[in-house]
Amino acid sequence: DPVWGEQHTDPGDRLLGVIRDAALVVGGPGPDGTGLPLIEWVGPASEAPDADQRRHLGGRALIPGFVDSHTHLVFAGDRSAEFAARMTGRPYDGGGIAVSVAATRAATDDELRTLVAARVAEARAQGTTTVEIKSGYGLTVEDELRSLRIARELTPHTTFLGAHVVPPEYADRRGDYVDLVTGPMLDALLADGRDASPAAYIDVFCEPHSPHAFDGDEARAVLEAGRARGLGLRVHGNQLGPGPGVQLACELRAASVDHCTYLSDADVDALAAARGTTVATLLPGVEFSTRSPYPDARRLIDAGVAVALASDCNPGTCYSSSIPFAIALAVREMGMTPAEALHAATAVSGRSLGLDRRLAVGEPAELAVVDGPSHLHLSYRAGVPLVRALEPGVRRPGC
Ligand code: NIG
Ligand code: FE
Repeated sequence: DPVWGEQHTDPGDRLLGVIRDAALVVGGPGPDGTGLPLIEWVGPASEAPDADQRRHLGGRALIPGFVDSHTHLVFAGDRSAEFAARMTGRPYDGGGIAVSVAATRAATDDELRTLVAARVAEARAQGTTTVEIKSGYGLTVEDELRSLRIARELTPHTTFLGAHVVPPEYADRRGDYVDLVTGPMLDALLADGRDASPAAYIDVFCEPHSPHAFDGDEARAVLEAGRARGLGLRVHGNQLGPGPGVQLACELRAASVDHCTYLSDADVDALAAARGTTVATLLPGVEFSTRSPYPDARRLIDAGVAVALASDCNPGTCYSSSIPFAIALAVREMGMTPAEALHAATAVSGRSLGLDRRLAVGEPAELAVVDGPSHLHLSYRAGVPLVRALEPGVRRPGC
């Protein structure tokens, strides 16, 4: 488009399959029951077939909507003071989670529902079309169940994180809490069978460096119990220091192991060997908000690991739902190219949820528009609200 002038070619064009001067045709709802329209055609605009309605995007880049495969959106309360204290040097150890748990238990269903819906809308306004949501601020049978039911009203990609931390009332009987998670909590979630469960995955905060989280044996017990009930596996691992989370996730064929901040060579080898099953999901907003060293994405990609990016939006370690922010950090601080970062926040994060998010014929038209001539602007113009999810059929100012 003449407004943008000459576009620079990016070495990542091949990875992303960039088509210049492209057109994309969106059809009616697909047969998969989601009601999402499907992509019917994609290619050079000069070869596009006729369509009932046409929208010209004015030379803007069209990208797959972001897949945010790691969020904790079901919570009440405020922990901004904890963030401020961290910026003056207080370390993060997971202890603040109990503050969010107390506020979440005290909230009504409607209060929680309103908070979660607003956070999903906020993510969508920044280009996220698919979101995974974890429980983990209830930590009773009833509060975990209602957290997941509320999450399920907004996304099918829900994760049971009863093993987020040991709640204060179980502090001196940790084993009893693991028994509650692996017994009555799972019983309640799966009372009507796997297909009717409000949880698709089980997750655990495996972190020997936090007195509140779970060690390798406890995490294994949680994951094996979830797997026995048919849930997929996700793991919080190696966030605060080296630990067993990554190797456990690879061994148990988890869909994703998330954080991956402190990795040994053996961890990287295990992730590379597991690349067909287990994705390493990096969450750089967490390192930003906890003033921690960033994970080394370059080392992982060069070793052949499947690397995803997600927000981890949560009240403690990163209260940002912005995937463009995560992409900018990944490019600036973690050695990813802009193309690798976009790929990680769409195709690879999607894969960790069993989704194919390529802009290809037959795939759902989950689209986002960048207010710029290429995806490079996502990190080049960091902090500018440049991308939004595109509602097919809805005409918006400017496009
Ligand atoms: O992914 N690491 C554990 N859980 C969240 C933080 C939760 C909180 O502090 O509220 C995370 O970083
Ligand atoms: Fe998390």
